[in-house]
Amino acid sequence: MITRRSIIKTGMAAGAAGAAGLLVPATAGTASAAGTGATTANDLDPALVAKFSQAMPLAPVVAPYMSMPMMMDCYALTMKEADKEILPGVLTRVWTFNGQFPGPVIKARSNVRTVIDQTNNLPAGVSVHLHGAHVSADNDGDPVVLIPPNGGTKTYTYPNAQPHASMWFHDHAHHAESESAFRGLAGTYLLTDDVEQNLNLPSGAYDVPIQLRDARFDDQGQLAYQMGDQNRSVILANGKAWPFYEVAARKYRFRLCNTANTRFFTLVLSDGSSFQQIGSDGGLLPAPLTVNKVVLSPGERADIVVDFSRYAVGTTLELRNEGTGGLLEHISKVLQFRVNRTAADTSVVPSTLRTLPAMQPATVNRSFTLAMGGGVATINGLSYVPNRIDTEIAYGSTEIWSVTNPGAGSHNFHLHLVQFRVIERGGVPVTSGPEYGLKDTVRVGPGETVKIQATFTGYRGQYLYHCHMFDHAAMGMMATMRIS
Ligand code: C2O
Ligand code: CU
Ligand code: CU
Repeated sequence: MITRRSIIKTGMAAGAAGAAGLLVPATAGTASAAGTGATTANDLDPALVAKFSQAMPLAPVVAPYMSMPMMMDCYALTMKEADKEILPGVLTRVWTFNGQFPGPVIKARSNVRTVIDQTNNLPAGVSVHLHGAHVSADNDGDPVVLIPPNGGTKTYTYPNAQPHASMWFHDHAHHAESESAFRGLAGTYLLTDDVEQNLNLPSGAYDVPIQLRDARFDDQGQLAYQMGDQNRSVILANGKAWPFYEVAARKYRFRLCNTANTRFFTLVLSDGSSFQQIGSDGGLLPAPLTVNKVVLSPGERADIVVDFSRYAVGTTLELRNEGTGGLLEHISKVLQFRVNRTAADTSVVPSTLRTLPAMQPATVNRSFTLAMGGGVATINGLSYVPNRIDTEIAYGSTEIWSVTNPGAGSHNFHLHLVQFRVIERGGVPVTSGPEYGLKDTVRVGPGETVKIQATFTGYRGQYLYHCHMFDHAAMGMMATMRIS
């Protein structure tokens, strides 16, 4: 049973002030009537969390401790526990990079090396993976080569020899990544290049990364992790439950990243109006799309431009989720925009954004089947075993992979090392739309087959491919490819 007293007590014990009145008192019978998973008596009822009562923070941009202009930027990050106000008036223990929740933003430039000294002051071993990056295998976050807990260090080198992309970084420790990402180990990595910089897209304060995810809390306001949990019904935007964000009546670029463990988001504006999608996982699309929704499975990114100049100052509207999985009154809400001022806007979304790299002719075809049952998850019938080579790839080859999900539940598919192209979905060639760009993660819906094409070049060695629903990967829906 949730009581206001227990929540406030925790908040005060943890040093939070001003909790009174922020969480409304429990009423009789507050137990959540479920999504598809069980709730327990000591769950926090999401109905107790006031919606749109906290401002959405912006993740801080980390400054390098050393820079060699146009050659290299060096950063130091420390992974450690911290107490953060995710729910109004309550402090929640989270795992962080540099004490930040959501994780901080690293800004990088193509062909300028990023070096990150990671110190692990957490109580568990971790392995940091830069999702979307083209890096050597020893810098990719091997699941069994861990930075030891309580003070271990490792330096990661990212040459950034790839075009601009909105990437992110998270733990990849074998069987633990699911929980550590849930506890907060996820940061943003924005790689830019001349192609992107030469456009006059909304920038500076009007270029806003937003990490979207869900969470489940106990009645003490602490994160409650269970593998395969279907009841993470509190939606977080940049680390706050259902925040608001004050905007000027002009264009904003939002870099949306789904860092949730298993939740798919179908994002819409509450007035049903359209906006532009300008990019996806691997940077800008060839041309902007006018859309009124964006679907993001875990790990996927969407770069959108919303023009608030069509709204009068004083207007509020919401970013909503039409996806399912939990009580709709909670999981349908994400973030509230408050148009509170005017501002000049000289930014432009041009009709051509970029030229995609040419596709090479494919010479190898492979098939992969994603399956789940009895707590075990597999790719082509096998659960992940570290260092077992599941797919041997000739260096430099171009391959088409057909990925099939024969089951009734959703999955997605992520490849390390490469940005791929989605060439076919459900038998229909992909020649336009939000998946017609560079991708590193793709949805594979129930009963669906998706074909992707990639060229495996740049590095030799072992890399992972997996479902990016972290719980599924941790249950075994992950495998190793070796490029040699
Ligand atoms: Cu975000 Cu193995 O990936
Ligand atoms: Cu990855
Ligand atoms: Cu899956």
